[in-house]
Amino acid sequence: PYPAYSRLREADPVQEHPLGFWILSRYEDAAEALRAGLSVDEGRIRTGPLAEVRDRLRSQDQGTLTLSMLDRDPPDHTRLRSLVSRVFTPRRIAALEPEIARLVDGYLDEIEEAGRADLVTSLAFPLPFAVISRMLGTDPAEHAAIRDMSGTLVRALEPVFEEEVLDAIDRARAGLDAVARELIARKRAEPADDLLSALIAAEEDGDVLSDDELAAQVVLLYVAGHETTVNLIAGGTVALLRNPGQLALLRAHPELGANAVEELLRYDSPVQQTRRVTVEPYAVGGRVIPPDSFVSVVLASANRDESFWGPDADRLRLDRPDARRHLSFGGGPHFCLGAHLARLEGRVALTRLTSRFPGLALDGEVTWNGRINLRGPATVPITTG
Ligand code: HEM
Repeated sequence: PYPAYSRLREADPVQEHPLGFWILSRYEDAAEALRAGLSVDEGRIRTGPLAEVRDRLRSQDQGTLTLSMLDRDPPDHTRLRSLVSRVFTPRRIAALEPEIARLVDGYLDEIEEAGRADLVTSLAFPLPFAVISRMLGTDPAEHAAIRDMSGTLVRALEPVFEEEVLDAIDRARAGLDAVARELIARKRAEPADDLLSALIAAEEDGDVLSDDELAAQVVLLYVAGHETTVNLIAGGTVALLRNPGQLALLRAHPELGANAVEELLRYDSPVQQTRRVTVEPYAVGGRVIPPDSFVSVVLASANRDESFWGPDADRLRLDRPDARRHLSFGGGPHFCLGAHLARLEGRVALTRLTSRFPGLALDGEVTWNGRINLRGPATVPITTG
């Protein structure tokens, strides 16, 4: 039940952290900060431990960190996001459902044959990874290396200060950047029926993006496309197995699937927090955050705030009427561009897994990935019963 978040909301909802950032933990404050369109341009901040780590990570930047839409303010953000949105449409995503169902059934066949499995390596990770890899059209021979580099790159979202980790992140970023550039060159020469080819066609159609910018969006889509959804599918399964009454409800009412995904996203936020930067004095919760401050918006805490959700905020309720108001996808101008895809993958995976194996159960200890931000299970041993 996230006791540390609960204490923060209660005692110090707008906390000034000694490491030089502010923490917003209440729902209303977090939602408002996201809506308000605070800056995401961390380069504005010159001093302090977070700025030092940032500078260290950016020293050899190929553009991948600073040119992705996630790190841009308008007008760049608007230009980058509108181009990607033109190809990443709800219709294109919805059309993927049969293929996603086929993929899921294939993974479940293998789980059934073995009788027991680690859900992370047998379903939760491979599904989103396969889907985004196909959308971008990468070469399967490169997948193992991409998976490893991506896993290293996302450590930049955690509080890391060790030199060797920062070096590894630098190398992973350069590696992914090279993959993206090679891919773009290949798709330019030989367009195919995939998202990246469509993105290049849209780009050539008039919205001018530099090659650096295009590569940065490809890396963002690749990484954001799977490092988060894995937590939804694995964490969602754990939450269901630990709440048998709710699992029974989902089995009896498969039409609850879409709302169940929203509630599972609320219950355990795959991305625990996101960061903003103040440009002007920012008044929130009776305090004023000075300009040029880092602000941590704790989505996972907002999602459990009793003053918004009511006294049962810590309970999993798949039929919660307003579950969709969770902040797991963020809010405002940077609201998750992949939300349709994540919802679809989550719904198809979780409903098919739970309906196919009536005896599904945990088969040992769940271990967690030890991440503070992209928090989720590392291993989920299951048996099909
Ligand atoms: C942005 C969460 C899946 C692509 C975001 C943000 C959050 C988030 C919280 C906003 C960050 C901020 O405001 O600072 C999630 C979760 C997912 C998920 C919890 C799965 C359960 C995906 C997928 C894709 C994707 C599958 C794409 C294939 C993006 C992109 C942005 C974004 C491109 C940047 C949007 C912008 O800056 O305008 N996501 N995401 N996400 N997400 Fe997701």
